[in-house]
Amino acid sequence: MSKKIIWYKVYDFSRHGEEPQQINSARTIDIEGKRLCLTRTEEGYFAIDDKCPHAGARFGMGGWCDMGLVVCPVHRYKYDVKTGKGLQGDFVETYPTELRNDGVYVGLKSDKPRWWPF
Ligand code: FES
Repeated sequence: MSKKIIWYKVYDFSRHGEEPQQINSARTIDIEGKRLCLTRTEEGYFAIDDKCPHAGARFGMGGWCDMGLVVCPVHRYKYDVKTGKGLQGDFVETYPTELRNDGVYVGLKSDKPRWWPF
């Protein structure tokens, strides 16, 4: 059974304004206890795991974006925010994001069934 994607609004433009995050920035967000890094590049918002595969640093705590790559604040390894591919050949997990009229959304896959058989 394929997993359902549940969308979470991480920015509400009516509350946070139309520019809630600077371009080329990275920040930690928490969704349902899962720690992600939300980046904003010239192309939009992208979400990845907030844990660097190299040695576990958090991208959202001092990292930034450069030419579509998130830069880890500790040893400066770089990862493509769209694909998760690192320049070193490793990967970080990516999550779907959507820019809608009312805000920015991040999707997480849910293990919960869509319906309950009785
Ligand atoms: S911990 Fe991220 S590059 Fe080393």
